[in-house]
Amino acid sequence: MKIGVLTSGGDAPGMNAAIRAAVRQADALGHEVWGIRRGYEGLLEGDWAPMPSRACANILQRGGTVLHTARCPEFFKPERRAEAAAKLRLAGIGALVVIGGDGSFRAAETLQREHGILCAGIPGTIDNDLPGTERTLGFDTALNTAVEAIDRIRDTASSHGRLFLVEVMGRSSGMLAVHTALACGAEAVLYPESPDDSYGALVARLHANWLRGKRSSIVVVAEGDDLGSAVAVGERLRREHGLDLRVVVLGHIQRGGSPSALDRIWGSRWGAEAVRRLDAGESGFYLGEVAGALAVLPMARVLGAHPVPPDDLGELVDILSR
Ligand code: F6P
Repeated sequence: MKIGVLTSGGDAPGMNAAIRAAVRQADALGHEVWGIRRGYEGLLEGDWAPMPSRACANILQRGGTVLHTARCPEFFKPERRAEAAAKLRLAGIGALVVIGGDGSFRAAETLQREHGILCAGIPGTIDNDLPGTERTLGFDTALNTAVEAIDRIRDTASSHGRLFLVEVMGRSSGMLAVHTALACGAEAVLYPESPDDSYGALVARLHANWLRGKRSSIVVVAEGDDLGSAVAVGERLRREHGLDLRVVVLGHIQRGGSPSALDRIWGSRWGAEAVRRLDAGESGFYLGEVAGALAVLPMARVLGAHPVPPDDLGELVDILSR
């Protein structure tokens, strides 16, 4: 069998581990892997090449994706998907391993349903916002990157007795923000799904901390929070309360870097498992982790509700920072 492997959407540390494992497991089972460059964009253009086992040397520890990636709105058009399916058939590629997030899995689910291309999904996004899995590739690395950065900010914040607003990624998910805030002892966290995310509550919290003798604070702000970006919240605090604060946007720093051991291990397990299951004739699934064990989920599950950060973690940030 010829299996195509692609990475799509935002890159995430651990994607290379998954590519390597898929290629080498396929090799062990006598299948051929073709690397599709630039995600669905490359798929539409037939931008692919055979990927032998040796092509994966020394990629396990590298961040990003050696196959490159793209966001490809064109793939949402039915006629473009039909073209892509025809191209795959012509090249003899009958199955795909798709490494990406929500949008990537939606595209795979449609491609399989409409055109019978066998698809297996591996969760790869630093957002950790896919249904049915407690982990996605890149989350652990991004979390550790953000925590390390904020530990450094904490030193200067406490030296100057200053307030810092630190923006972490997460356009529609607060998973990274809440876990980062808890891990670095932030005084507050703002995130899109928060039950009581109000400007008034933030000001009250900062004021209470001040009265308690706290002279420096760190507020973690998820990129997609309802109050706006960290820059917007910072401007409002300056304007309305005259606070001397600093804003740091961590941005794409969180997406790069060598994957953590956990992201390498899960990338390796999922890459191999995806190919083993395709080899056994299964398709239309994505892999995950539930309570430490490897989980298999129907691809259509991605169309359902997405996980939100547990409320108790947000509350814990508040209680532990007093
Ligand atoms: O989906 C991963 C992610 O890093 C989000 O957290 C962020 O909102 C988005 O990608 C940024 O995308 P881009 O790199 O295309 O600006």
